[in-house]
Amino acid sequence: MTAETIFLSMPESDIAVLTFDTPNKSANVLSNSVLDELAKHLDTLEKRSDIAGLIFCSAKPGIFIAGADLREFVQSLGAAKEQVVAMCRRGQTLFGRLAAMPFVTVAAINGICVGGGAELASWCDRRVFSNNPKAEFGFPEVKLGLFPGWGGTARAPRIAGLSNAVEMVTGGESISAEAAYKMGWASDVVADDELLPAAVRLVRAEQASKEYVKDRERWSGPVVITETELGFLGATASAVIRQQTKGQYPAPDAALETILESAMLDSESACQLEATRMAKLFGSPVNAALLNVFFLTDRNKKDTGVEGKKVQPQSIGSVTVIGAGIMGSGIAAANVKRGLAVALTDAAHDSLVKGGRNVLEEAAFDRTLKSPNVERMLELAPLLNLTSSDQEVAASDLVIEAIVENEKAKRSIYAKLEPLLRPEAILASNTSTIPITKLAAGLQRPERFCGIHFFNPVRRMKLVEVIRGEKTSDETIATAVAYAKGIGKIPIVMNDGPGFLVNRLLFPYMHEAIELLCDGADIKAIERASKSFGMPMGPIELYDLVGIDTAVYASQTMFEAFPDRVVSSPLLPAMVAAKRLGKKTGRGFYSYDNKKGRPEPDASLAEVIGPHVREQREFSQDELTMRLFLPMFLEATRVLEDRIVRDPRDIDLGLIFGLGFPPFKGGLMFWADTLGAATIVEMLKPFAALGNRMAPTKLLLEMAASGAKFYK
Ligand code: NAI
Repeated sequence: MTAETIFLSMPESDIAVLTFDTPNKSANVLSNSVLDELAKHLDTLEKRSDIAGLIFCSAKPGIFIAGADLREFVQSLGAAKEQVVAMCRRGQTLFGRLAAMPFVTVAAINGICVGGGAELASWCDRRVFSNNPKAEFGFPEVKLGLFPGWGGTARAPRIAGLSNAVEMVTGGESISAEAAYKMGWASDVVADDELLPAAVRLVRAEQASKEYVKDRERWSGPVVITETELGFLGATASAVIRQQTKGQYPAPDAALETILESAMLDSESACQLEATRMAKLFGSPVNAALLNVFFLTDRNKKDTGVEGKKVQPQSIGSVTVIGAGIMGSGIAAANVKRGLAVALTDAAHDSLVKGGRNVLEEAAFDRTLKSPNVERMLELAPLLNLTSSDQEVAASDLVIEAIVENEKAKRSIYAKLEPLLRPEAILASNTSTIPITKLAAGLQRPERFCGIHFFNPVRRMKLVEVIRGEKTSDETIATAVAYAKGIGKIPIVMNDGPGFLVNRLLFPYMHEAIELLCDGADIKAIERASKSFGMPMGPIELYDLVGIDTAVYASQTMFEAFPDRVVSSPLLPAMVAAKRLGKKTGRGFYSYDNKKGRPEPDASLAEVIGPHVREQREFSQDELTMRLFLPMFLEATRVLEDRIVRDPRDIDLGLIFGLGFPPFKGGLMFWADTLGAATIVEMLKPFAALGNRMAPTKLLLEMAASGAKFYK
C-alpha cells in the first residue's frame, strides 16, 4: 500500500480541488502509483453532475510538481519499445481526460512546474500562476536525453504557439510566470494567497463564457501554420540546435522533428507520434548517461560532506578574500552576487583597485545586456569592502586566501592573521597544488583550516574542491560544503594529495597529448579526437589557456609526486624558453595574433617542437582517444585506491563540473562501466610499451577478474 498523495477537498459546493502532497518529500513527483491515484479521482469526479470546476493545487511551498519519478525511469531503462510507447500512451490518455471532463479544469501553479508536472498542467483548460519568484514552467526533458512524452509536444504548440513550443521543448529551459503569461500559458499571475480564489474565479468566468469549450475544440485539431512558416522555423531551429549540441545530443533534434511533423496532425495523432518517437530515445546510452548526471547532482545536493554522524555547519555571514587577482576577484564576486559581505585585500594597491572593479562588474553582469548593470553595481557596492586593515580582514567568519602560489608567502600570511581571527572562524586556501596539511603546519588551529579550491573562471565553473588536511575537523568540512552550496557551487570533499582530484586526473591526459605530439601525431588530430569524445576544447588549446609556464610548474609537482608514471617532457620547458607561454603572451602552441584572439595554427611552432619529435606517423582517431583518456581513467582508479574521494561518483561529478567532461558520457567512471573493466584491460595491452602510465592498476585487475562495476 502506498500512502495517499492526492487529496480531494470542496472549498465551495461545486468546486473540487485535488491537492498534491507527497508524504515525507519536499517535492511532488508523478510516480506510477500517483498516476493510479489520479485516475481513481478522475473516475469518481467525472461521474458527478454537481461540479463546475476541478482545480489542481500543491501543498508543497514553492513547488507544484517537479516531474515524473526519475527513479522509476532508471528502473525501466531496459524496457522494450512497446512498453515505452505504452508508458507514454498511459500518461497522455490519463492527462487527456482533463481536456474532456464535463467541467472546467484549472492548474493553480504555486512554484516549480516542470516535466510531467508541466504536461499535467498543459492538459488543463486553464492555468493560473503565483507570482512567487520560484514559479517556473518548462519541459527540461532534453537535459535527460528525452522529450516530453505525456502529450507535452502536442499541447505546447497548440497553446503557446509553434515557435515558443520549439524553443521551450528543444532548449529545455524553464520560463517565469510572467513569460508564461505573455506566451498564453497563464490566464493570470497573482499573489500566493490569491492563487485558489483566482482559480475559482477562472472556473466561474469560463462557465459563463464557455471559451474553454472552443479552446478544447481548437487544441484538438492541427496547429494553424503555413508550410512556408513551418519550413522556415524548422531551418532556423535546427541550425541553433546543431550549434548547441554539436551532434552529440540527439534529443533536441528528435523533439524538433516530432513537433514539426505533428503540427499538421490532430492532437490525438500528434500524441501517437510523440509516443513512438520517445520510445527511440528512452533507454539510449545518452539518456542513461544524462540520467546518471542528474542523480550525481541530486546526490551532491544532499551530501553534507561528512559521512555518518550529523555535524552542524556554522553559518557564514561574511567572507574575507586575500589576493585580488584572477581567482580572488572571481571568488569575491561569487559571494557578493549571493548577498554575502566581502572584505577584499591585496598586497598591491593597484591590484586591489583593479580587482575591486572586476568584482562589482562581474557580480552585476547582466547576461541579456552583455554588460554590467550599473544600478545593480550600486546596490551591491556596499557589500564589498576593499581594505588593507588587518583588523577588518580578520573580522570575517571565513577567510579565503588566494594569493600567488607560493608556500612561504601563504604561510607567512596565516602566521600574521591567525592570532587576529575569532576562535570559530575558518581559514581556507585556494591553492591548486600545495598540500593542505603542509600549509597547516605551524597553525594554532589546524582543525579550522581546509582547502576551498575554486576553478577558473569562477563565474562559469560550478565545481569547488573542499580539501581535508590531516587535522581538518568535520565541522570545518561541513561548513565549507554548506557555504559553497550557498553561493551556488557544487562542492566535493576529498582528502589531501598532489593535484587534489581534478588536476590529478587532468594532468595524465594533458601529458599524454604532449607525448603524442612527440610521437609524431598531428595537433589537429589530437584536438579532434578529444573534441569528438566530447571535451569542450582540445588538450593543446587547453595548455595555451592555462599558461605553459603554469603547466610546467604543475607538471613538476606531479612528477615529484608520481615519478613512476609521470613523464616530464622537455617540450614544455622548451616552449617556455621560446617565450611561447600561451594565450596570455599571444603565442603558445597556437598563435592568437588576430582580432578575436582565436587560436590559429602557427607555422613557427615546428621549430620548437621539431627537435622533440621522435618519429612521424599516422594515428587513428581510436588510438588517439584511448591514449588520451585511458591514462586519465587509470589515474582515477589510483585516486580510489588512495581513498582521495569517498565514492567513484565524486570523480564523475568533479570531472563534469570542473573540466567539462562530456555529460552525455555520464562521467569517466560511468563511461568505463559501459566498457567493462575486462575490456579496458584488453584495450591497454597494445600500449604496454609506454610503461607504468598505461599499466592496469590493482583495482582495475581485481574488477576485471570479479566483473565488478564502479556504479553498484
Ligand atoms: P594572480 O597572480 O592573478 O593573483 C594573485 C594576487 O595575490 C595578486 O593580485 C598579488 O598582488 C596578490 N598577492 C601576492 N602576494 C600577496 C600577499 N602576501 N598578500 C596579499 N596579496 C598578495 O593569481 P591567481 O591566478 O588568482 O591565483 C591565486 C591562487 O589561486 C594561487 O594559489 C593559484 O594556485 C590558485 N588557483 C589559480 C587558478 C588559475 O587558473 N589561475 C585556478 C585555481 C586556483
